[in-house]
Amino acid sequence: TVLILDFGSQVTQLIARRVREAHVYCEIHPHDVSGDVIAALAPIGIILSGSHGSTYEDHQLRAPDEVWTSGVPVLGICYGMQTMAAQLGGAVSWSDHREFGYAEVRAHGHTRLLEDLEDFRSPEGHGMLKVWMSHGDSVASMPPGFTLLASTPSCPIAGMADQARGYYAVQFHPEVTHTQQGQAILTRFVRDICGGRGDWRMGDYVTEAVARIREQVGQDHVILGLSGGVDSSVAAALIHKAIGDQLTCVFVDHGLLRLNEAALVMDMFAGRLHAKVRHVDAGAQFLGHLTGVTDPEAKRKIIGREFVEVFQAEASSLVDARWLAQGTIYPDVVESGGAKTKKSKTIKSHHNVGGLPETLGLSLLEPLRELFKDEVRELGLVLGLPPEMVYRHPFPGPGLGVRILGEVKAEYAELLRRADDIFIQELRSTRDEATGKTWYDLTSQAFAVFLPVRSVGVMGDYRTYEHVVALRAVQTTDFMTADWAPLPMALLKKASSRIINEVRGINRVVYDISSKPPSTIEWE
Ligand code: XMP
Repeated sequence: TVLILDFGSQVTQLIARRVREAHVYCEIHPHDVSGDVIAALAPIGIILSGSHGSTYEDHQLRAPDEVWTSGVPVLGICYGMQTMAAQLGGAVSWSDHREFGYAEVRAHGHTRLLEDLEDFRSPEGHGMLKVWMSHGDSVASMPPGFTLLASTPSCPIAGMADQARGYYAVQFHPEVTHTQQGQAILTRFVRDICGGRGDWRMGDYVTEAVARIREQVGQDHVILGLSGGVDSSVAAALIHKAIGDQLTCVFVDHGLLRLNEAALVMDMFAGRLHAKVRHVDAGAQFLGHLTGVTDPEAKRKIIGREFVEVFQAEASSLVDARWLAQGTIYPDVVESGGAKTKKSKTIKSHHNVGGLPETLGLSLLEPLRELFKDEVRELGLVLGLPPEMVYRHPFPGPGLGVRILGEVKAEYAELLRRADDIFIQELRSTRDEATGKTWYDLTSQAFAVFLPVRSVGVMGDYRTYEHVVALRAVQTTDFMTADWAPLPMALLKKASSRIINEVRGINRVVYDISSKPPSTIEWE
């Protein structure tokens, strides 16, 4: 085990993620963890994370003495470097020069941590690293026994090491991708310096997570809102593996799902995994409440409210349930804790069936809380979920409710489902020649939107006067900004002609060429 002590940085989980990427097992514990816990873990190395705090202002934020007496290598990052300096006899000063963002540091000497790692040579011939900095304080003098590891003009002590004791520290953040050699530096620490064997795999995570879940819930019963999305599906598969029939999944079908979605989810979870799944067919109820409602936010609110109500009714009929499981993943945790707008919080809370724990008196079980999206996908594959499910595009909680503009009607939903399905089929079956990937995999989200207007067309000898469907496909990494996807003309042509020929009631298809911002990904 590599022990990561968390001093409260937003990116501590990223350190864990990089250590996992080096195939070494790690655990994050609070910075003030007791010496007994450290002894029991018997770590092969310890990493001290960054923090918002300052050694000057808050002397509570210190690493336990056992870190220094344990005899294993220690890596301090950012604040972790400062507390290392302060605790071992060096000095830290408040620097009036705040450094934030890209920096180029000179890597000094031949310490094992940075040996042979460089991004480029300076004109003077020094090995240089491109890194990410985020700090105000800095180390003013190194503790006895330390030598200089890295420096920049504004931060003369940007890294230090006492190789004899196995102590290393860097002021920059090797855990973020902006630091080009970041993964190499962390791999070097946990593998070469700490001696991690590098044989940890996602399969081991399953074993560990299964054991943790069993210990946490004991003989209790757990309910989980299964949406068919990646996160709730992987959470369901993992928890089912751990506790089998102690888990009941509730799949609320609000009548605004994609074509065959319910059958797909039921087939996978009830059919193949033999999990207990309750399929609540509440389409009529949802549509009833949406009659006459045209405002997008009002529609969202109604769908969200009904969803909670239906789920709650199911949950309270499972009298012995003690836990509510959710597929919360690490970026959700950061998002709801970070400075986010009210709106995005509401979106998330609906998406993740939030708000339920208080009213139901259930404890939360969130086994994916520390994982990143790509790790969740890898875990899903290891658990035996099919790639089509694990690499699915995201689908909004209100579903087709926000893809049918204006009032939601059953007949519109039916037309939209079929058009959308054809578009997705074409994206899945068309490959890009250059990359060999399908256009489904080359886009981040793609779907059809129903426009409740009519336009004139002609079919054979007949004049038609029917509805319009817009196709939307975007490429993005964070969904905050997005570009419309440059789909091949042939794909668009085929999708359009199939939709118009196969879906009676649609006689026109348009392609949405708007970026976000100023447009959004969804039309409502
Ligand atoms: P926009 O349309 O805001 O969408 O660019 C960004 C991402 O969020 C999804 N989205 C939602 N997800 N409930 C959800 O669970 C919602 O109300 C909602 N609205 C948008 C959207 O599909 C895209 O991935």
